Amino acid sequence: MENRDLNALAARAADLIVGSQKLVVFTGAGISTESGIPDFRSPGGIWERFDPDDFTIDKFRSSPDSRRKQWRILKEGLLTDKAAPNAAHIAVAELYRMGKLDCVITQNIDNLHQKAGVPDDRVFELHGNMQFVLCLDCGRRYPLGDIKPRLDRGEEIPDCLECRGMLKPDIVMFGEQLPYDVLQEAGRRAMASDLFIVIGSTLVVYPAAFMPLYAVEAGAGLIIVNLSATPMDDRAAVVIRAKAGEAMSAVVAGVKERLGR
Ligand code: APR
Ligand code: ZN
Repeated sequence: MENRDLNALAARAADLIVGSQKLVVFTGAGISTESGIPDFRSPGGIWERFDPDDFTIDKFRSSPDSRRKQWRILKEGLLTDKAAPNAAHIAVAELYRMGKLDCVITQNIDNLHQKAGVPDDRVFELHGNMQFVLCLDCGRRYPLGDIKPRLDRGEEIPDCLECRGMLKPDIVMFGEQLPYDVLQEAGRRAMASDLFIVIGSTLVVYPAAFMPLYAVEAGAGLIIVNLSATPMDDRAAVVIRAKAGEAMSAVVAGVKERLGR
């Protein structure tokens, strides 16, 4: 995207943000690719290398072989407690620090919004969070840091040290219910928003993808920052087809300028 075009679009987005009272930011895996975490549906993404049909809770529970596969997917792609927030996460946290952000609703499990400085109670994680691993038998919760070294040492299917039970990352797998309270509150926030910004999502996985729809149906303005087209593009006031880091940095620079920060 030409810089000239980016600057014009970022300026329009900044105008909308300055005029908003209830801004909700909705993110997907595309906001974290610049932190080195692969997304799912871009070329080279997770679902190009692994079969999503293997990544279901029923399969996880049903066979050691499927658990082995799912721990490998996690280890190779998503299990990074080393990833750092990138310019896009930092820009979103800046909006919070300026008092312009109601909350973040994210499909991501990487904890990078919190690492960038958005408080936990303003981040609604629809698909869980990779920072913990649960024992499905005794309920014990392990920090990821206790399990990752075991995987790095070659353990393929880590089990519970307490009861030898089945360990599962605290994330939502296909076929699992999303955390009910989180989904309810996220829906409420989306419907109460007056401006809704989507960053880095194909908007093809439900019920998460209902969020921008709830917002627009309730009268909110929509901004989309995404490298590829989404089903909501034609309902957006601004669509920025650029990398999230540079786009959101330009947008927040515009907000600061307008607020005299
Ligand atoms: N800047 C802007 N957009 C980007 C960038 C970037 N640096 N990198 C990737 N994108 C865009 C891609 O073009 C794509 O449209 O982000 C989008 C990522 O889409 P998906 O890979 O489908 O990720 P997401 O929408 O979060 O997937 C939703 O699917 O598999 C499940 O549970 C998983 O939460 C995930 C859900
Ligand atoms: Zn246990």
